[in-house]
Amino acid sequence: MKVLLVGGGGREHALAWALSGSGLLTKLWVAPGNAGIAEVAECVAIGAEDVPALVAFARERAVDLVVCGPEAPLTLGLADACAAAGLKCFGPSAAAAKLEGSKAFTREVATAAGVPGAEWAQFTEAEAARAYVRAKGAPIVVKADGLAAGKGVVVAATVAEAEQAITEIMEDKVHGAAGSTLLIEECLMGQEVSFFALCDGETALPMAAAQDHKRVGDGDTGPNTGGMGAYSPPPAFTPAIEAEVMDRIIRPTLAEMARRGTPFRGVLFAGLMLTEAGPKLIEFNVRFGDPECQVLMLRLQSDLLAALLAACDGELDRFALRWSAEAAMVVVMAARGYPGAYARGSVIEGLEQAAQVPGAQVFHAGTARDEQGHLVATGGRVLGVSATGATLRVARDAAYTAVDAVRWPGGFCRRDIGWRALEM
Ligand code: AMP
Ligand code: GLY
Repeated sequence: MKVLLVGGGGREHALAWALSGSGLLTKLWVAPGNAGIAEVAECVAIGAEDVPALVAFARERAVDLVVCGPEAPLTLGLADACAAAGLKCFGPSAAAAKLEGSKAFTREVATAAGVPGAEWAQFTEAEAARAYVRAKGAPIVVKADGLAAGKGVVVAATVAEAEQAITEIMEDKVHGAAGSTLLIEECLMGQEVSFFALCDGETALPMAAAQDHKRVGDGDTGPNTGGMGAYSPPPAFTPAIEAEVMDRIIRPTLAEMARRGTPFRGVLFAGLMLTEAGPKLIEFNVRFGDPECQVLMLRLQSDLLAALLAACDGELDRFALRWSAEAAMVVVMAARGYPGAYARGSVIEGLEQAAQVPGAQVFHAGTARDEQGHLVATGGRVLGVSATGATLRVARDAAYTAVDAVRWPGGFCRRDIGWRALEM
């Protein structure tokens, strides 16, 4: 089978790595890919959001399956354009991808489906939003409605902080048009977990859970990022909780999307808070998490390509997934300054040594080769230094041994990935 994978981050390196191990695969292209992906697939110089060029390439090469990593091409209609061109695509239609593209839409669907979540209200006027915040008190959560690269959310500890966030998002437009509608939510308390389910429109197959670390600094301090590290499985996410999440969150959402005539096919990523009153939905995403995907792919024992095809073909009711009982951890190495401004072009060395650590696997995110063939950083999140182990502690030790083998003065990482589980 010929596959075109869309994207070029750490998630896509993990997907490319897993796809390249499939017995069904004959050729893998990745658009645009990165320096690590180039080691397992052929990179194609097409931007991940250039939907017409992606579809034209897939047709020209008679690709059997297009797999979409990031959300942006999906919200731009990649799956719809593939369907119109007679191509199979793993990922939801633009209408179903609204579950990620619009937080207000997600809230509507979740409410209709009876999904447990935070109390919320929606505003298009800053003054009304400020009045609501003053009435509710803190802590309280302020969110830009549209896509803001994961940075449109402020968990405000005080009313003043919430009011400032409202001003920045609605009046100063720090996230542009994404801030013209605002959501204000009850602040949920508990452990946060990312849960993934494969969906074929009708059937949802549980995959696995992972715990991400969104704040940039050790001890969960500093600004939110795309994710600084993850591990799987999170011990707090018990089989009983998984069953409850499938019954109360995933399946009702899938049924509601089908009822609306916009069935969801792809991977549904539920961002959950494990509260004292049970698991509650924070948000949906319509793709694998980054860096959660890296640890999921390390633990997946089934053929990924076969699973994605079953989701596309509506055959998940006859499919089962096997997972390793081992733990996996990914530590993200980012360019100094991230998630703020950072420099590009610094040289990275030592990846061969890192890869020799038993159980280790280095996934690339923002990397490229310069003219001399040196590996250079080209993004904010640059590497996902990962490892598996019999226990989380073993995986953690291996991942950090590999991190310490990387010679990259322009980079940094958190030193405490997995701390919640390791303290349990
Ligand atoms: P989101 O972009 O919706 O995932 O929000 C980013 C982060 O903000 C989440 O990963 C949570 O850590 C936090 N967050 C969002 N909504 C809430 C909420 N209602 N209660 C507590 N924390 C939240
Ligand atoms: N790591 C969180 C996300 O992919 O949205």
